[in-house]
Amino acid sequence: MPHNQTPGPVLVVDFGAQYAQLIARRVRECQVYSEIIPATTPLADIVERKPAAVILSGGPASVYTPGALPAPDGLFESGLPVLGICYGFQLMIRDLGGVVAKTASGEYGAATLQLSAPGASAADGGLMVGLPERQQVWMSHGDTCTVAPPEFTVTASTASTPVAAAEDKARRLYGVQFHPEVAHTDHGLEILRQFLDVAGCRADWTTANIIDEQVDQIRATVGPGRAICGLSGGVDSAVAAALVQRAIGARLCCVFVDHGLLRKNEAEQVEQDFVAATGVDLVVVDAQADFAAALSGVTDPEAKRKIIGREFIRAFEQAARQIAARDADGQGGDADGRGGDADGRGGDADGRGGDAGGRGGDAGGRGGEADGRGGEAAEFLVQGTLYPDVVESGGDRGGPGGKGGPGGKGGPGGRLTASIKSHHNVGGLPEDLGFTLIEPLRTLFKDEVRAIGSALGLPPQIVWRQPFPGPGLAIRIVGEVTSERLAIIREADSIAREELTAAGLDRHIWQCPVVLLADVRSVGVQGDSRSYGYPVVLRPVTSEDAMTADWARVPDPVLARISTRITNEVAEINRVVLDITSKPPATIEWE
Ligand code: XMP
Repeated sequence: MPHNQTPGPVLVVDFGAQYAQLIARRVRECQVYSEIIPATTPLADIVERKPAAVILSGGPASVYTPGALPAPDGLFESGLPVLGICYGFQLMIRDLGGVVAKTASGEYGAATLQLSAPGASAADGGLMVGLPERQQVWMSHGDTCTVAPPEFTVTASTASTPVAAAEDKARRLYGVQFHPEVAHTDHGLEILRQFLDVAGCRADWTTANIIDEQVDQIRATVGPGRAICGLSGGVDSAVAAALVQRAIGARLCCVFVDHGLLRKNEAEQVEQDFVAATGVDLVVVDAQADFAAALSGVTDPEAKRKIIGREFIRAFEQAARQIAARDADGQGGDADGRGGDADGRGGDADGRGGDAGGRGGDAGGRGGEADGRGGEAAEFLVQGTLYPDVVESGGDRGGPGGKGGPGGKGGPGGRLTASIKSHHNVGGLPEDLGFTLIEPLRTLFKDEVRAIGSALGLPPQIVWRQPFPGPGLAIRIVGEVTSERLAIIREADSIAREELTAAGLDRHIWQCPVVLLADVRSVGVQGDSRSYGYPVVLRPVTSEDAMTADWARVPDPVLARISTRITNEVAEINRVVLDITSKPPATIEWE
């Protein structure tokens, strides 16, 4: 892709589309940085961000609905390259003098796109260059574009949509009625890539660059200070910690609250594998007894979540105080030693992470430097908040150091979401803990986080772990949480994970909760005698971001093996059932 003078992001204007996040992710797959902004963002704010290009998303409204969101005023005259998708395309067509007709029936699902000028030359500068004459695209629209604006060329049509794609190359205005971002559009990614190309976007959003940029930002934010990070055992907090550790070395201290609700071997993974890979200074708090006592007799899912959140904060605060006391005691010598350690391991990670590496040694160096100072309590708290969380919560507290991540200010906003569950994770710590937040993953999607984790040298068993909820197995036991039930579900879960891994399905499914229906018993027969045991539910799902999910079609032989092994090896379980509900209407976890 050609280099552009404008280094800014591609801004995806969200008109309430189901697919706005997906558009942003696809752009990043083309190694171009993108962010989502609300449709109400004024043009002046858009221009101030110096975007390389703007993409108008689809949306549920008709352009004729009273109060339907308009395109940012003046956008099409601003000189910025614009791609309109679905509703965004219709706004472009209508605003520039074409015709969007109200039709009785829309066009939904797969459609065959016919190019108007197949075989256009590569020098053509159009979005359909080099694509097959006929191809499958994914449609989802009511109104239809029937006449393109003057100066636009119609580049494709379908049986029911005369203007399915159109462009004005001179003004770099492009539009498609279909959804290039969804997998069902055969050449969607190529079309997006071609748009980014003609817009002159820089393909520099690479793992190595992200790491470099974040490390620089973290260093600038933390200065000579200290940071603390709660590890949950999950991918996000592990990668956030590894990034910060690379930036500031031994001046990061991690806290792992062992609440006794983790899966088999997970506590050990944090205590051993993570420390081995990063050399991080880790404080482990054994709070199992406190959590067990607090959860005793509790069955309501929300009550469980709130109790776990509260206990977690209590344990974390206590650990933070101890660390502060330790640091104030001038145990800088201790930390110093670890600084050197971090140095060495940084180099190690380099070998694996390629380019990103060079910084490891650097970070260690600084760690050592700061250690010399010692004696200061941590003032920064690291959290593994991801971009989808930010978009969904509509928050914009800002990125590392509160600035909004790469690209400075901006940030998504303005979504109202119903409170379905009280999510608890280390990101759920209250702000009045008195720390300044560092959220190095705030602009990233899960797949990007995994790529960074690998480049930083984290072991695959941490990087490729299935997402796991902060409240842990407690919300996978429907009923009261007891140590016996935890032991049962831990075994069953371990078998399911083992078999899914053995079948090579880890990267195909998003996660597979195993849920214990602890207040249900059913009759079975084992070895000629009657059993009266618990059922467990397998909940394998596929998903892009956990916002929506489908039940995963795990091959029968794999399901059979999981079922046989669980009922054979876990004495208390005599029935295994499969959850075949999508999200919505269900959620992924049962509580
Ligand atoms: P649901 O059940 O809402 O889950 O469809 C969506 C995704 O979020 C995970 N999850 C949580 N993660 N703290 C977390 O860190 C939580 O309290 C929590 N509850 C659900 C869930 O595993 C799925 O990946």
